[in-house]
Amino acid sequence: MPPPTPRPAAVLVTGASSGIGRATALAAAERGDDLVLVARSEKTLQQVATECRLHGAGSVTVHALDVGDDEAVRAMVESVVRRHGRIDLAVHAAGVVAYGRIDQVPAEVFDGVLRTNLLGSANLARHVVPVLRRQEHGSLVLVGSVIGHIRVPGMAAYAVSKHGVRALAAHLRIENRDLPGVRIAYAAPGGVDTPIYQQAASYAGFVGRPPPPVFSPELTARQLLRRAHRAWLPAQLNPANELIRFGATALPWIYDRLVGPLFGVIATDLTRPTGPTTGNVLEPRAAGNALRGTAGPTVAGVLANLRRRFAGAAPAATTPDEHVPHPRSATDPVVARTSTSERSTT
Ligand SMILES: NC(=O)c1ccc[n+]([C@@H]2O[C@H](COP(=O)([O-])OP(=O)(O)OC[C@H]3O[C@@H](n4cnc5c(N)ncnc54)[C@H](OP(=O)(O)O)[C@@H]3O)[C@@H](O)[C@H]2O)c1
Repeated sequence: MPPPTPRPAAVLVTGASSGIGRATALAAAERGDDLVLVARSEKTLQQVATECRLHGAGSVTVHALDVGDDEAVRAMVESVVRRHGRIDLAVHAAGVVAYGRIDQVPAEVFDGVLRTNLLGSANLARHVVPVLRRQEHGSLVLVGSVIGHIRVPGMAAYAVSKHGVRALAAHLRIENRDLPGVRIAYAAPGGVDTPIYQQAASYAGFVGRPPPPVFSPELTARQLLRRAHRAWLPAQLNPANELIRFGATALPWIYDRLVGPLFGVIATDLTRPTGPTTGNVLEPRAAGNALRGTAGPTVAGVLANLRRRFAGAAPAATTPDEHVPHPRSATDPVVARTSTSERSTT
């Protein structure tokens, strides 16, 4: 029988400065847990740390680092174990998106998406799982996406990364079957209203919007925390995911014809034409991090897209030559990728 999770639990959250990771950190704070917050932008992490303390966190430690940097992740995990003596739960919610066809997205951006979403998951698992195994208890929750189960034109980098996360989680599970107290959970959200859509790199002339039905980051956070103890719960967090997966696997001919046009109307925001941008893939854009996104009501968004389509104002496709890096905001001090900084209060 695995020992019960100690309270307060030591909870590590990557992607804690925005969206789902931020909501997860706040939900754990409300339980009085000891929190370790990870993202690249120290500025936003410090804001979230303050929010977590106000929500009742037992303690908050901030690590500004890039999850794609294995050595930084190793050092962070070592420091967490030194401080708390254990890790009860690690949630990998760090993630980035790039829009554009494979031939449009520059290699560094394509690789950047894989680095954060897939290699970041592997880096965290590489260093957290041995701690969980030593303890013979604890949970690792990897956040995938419904897009890790299907194909979407113009989102190849993201889809490849999330298919990889799904495979990684499956392998972690069979590798750790011998210790029932070590739980590996994999969760695939559908549409969640977070800043990820506006923060995305884009070479398609637009950014995205969450496809309906849109969940809140707070609901998604509760679903993730539930899976920490019940890793056997269904991976799909949104009922619409099952429908989309069914279409993609059982009716591939129809699916492949419809996915592009449907995606263009319900999962993009044609009202905000976007020039080629690396978004937050290669470096953080602290000003864009927030708990929620700015998608607004789905019906209004879809109607606005249709109006734009019928007015013939759909954004033009871009070519790789038009790639220009997103200008770094003066208010966004970039944290060196390899550096780890730590601030803590109890
Ligand atoms: N929103 C949705 O509809 C949706 C749907 C399905 C799956 N998901 C998944 O849910 C997870 C959370 O996404 P979200 O929607 O909450 O996005 P978000 O609001 O944009 O938050 C992403 C977080 O990841 C951090 N991050 C990005 N790159 C990083 C890196 N290299 N190292 C460390 N931290 C990094 C960001 O902070 P910094 O930029 O400061 O590092 C931010 O805290 C992602 O895995 C995403 O793929 C989201």
